[in-house]
Amino acid sequence: MRTKLIVGNWKMNGSRAVNAGLLEGIVAGLDGARAEAAVCVPAPYLQQCQDVLTGTPVAWGAQDVSVHACGAYTGEICASMLAEFACRYVIVGHSERRAYHRESSELVAQKARAVLAEGMTPIVCVGETLAQRDAGETVAVVGGQLGAVLELLEPAQVAQLVVAYEPVWAIGTGKNATPAMAQEVHAALREQLRARNQDAAPTVRILYGGSMKPENARELLAQPDIDGGLIGGAALKARDFLAIIHAA
Ligand code: 13P
Repeated sequence: MRTKLIVGNWKMNGSRAVNAGLLEGIVAGLDGARAEAAVCVPAPYLQQCQDVLTGTPVAWGAQDVSVHACGAYTGEICASMLAEFACRYVIVGHSERRAYHRESSELVAQKARAVLAEGMTPIVCVGETLAQRDAGETVAVVGGQLGAVLELLEPAQVAQLVVAYEPVWAIGTGKNATPAMAQEVHAALREQLRARNQDAAPTVRILYGGSMKPENARELLAQPDIDGGLIGGAALKARDFLAIIHAA
């Protein structure tokens, strides 16, 4: 049985004052929640998360990581630094990084490996553009993105992944994939995990991301292979984020 996981991806949003209210609001409203919750925040706010969230049920993490270990890489942040702030999760391969920073699936795979090496859990994002969906390439595209990661990791490491299916056309647009559309892709991703590690595949959580909000969360999360959500805009309001957590 997979425990549902709801992760807020704050992207490049926040301030110390706003974060304080948001984090305290989330913690205060968690009573009775059965899903696990986490927030992935801009790196300068990891200390604040550690201060506020230690001892609460909410985990925290980062949104990106360097493939390199410590060294002469100006502006980069290595996995061991993130581990020092007790991050549980690190998002890798978000479509915004693939698009704006030209991250390849091979680079994303190396990032996932760097995260695992420091004892944290990578949240590996995959997703197709609208043009790719219209061309009938969805499963091939996300399969290629996940495949690069599976190829680089040892089969045993598959069990330590979280995967997030985020159709690019659904991110920040208000247009979510229908539950049936998402389920179809999630099932294909799980088959691909199974081919690499038969025992791990049933335990890996595959999150849906892309305009998930209180109004559509319940139906999406009811699909057999949708094990949680990666939430952008709706994670910036405690009330909405909590509504999704409670829907799970
Ligand atoms: P929205 O929920 O704002 O569509 O963003 C989804 C996302 O990109 C989460 O990583």
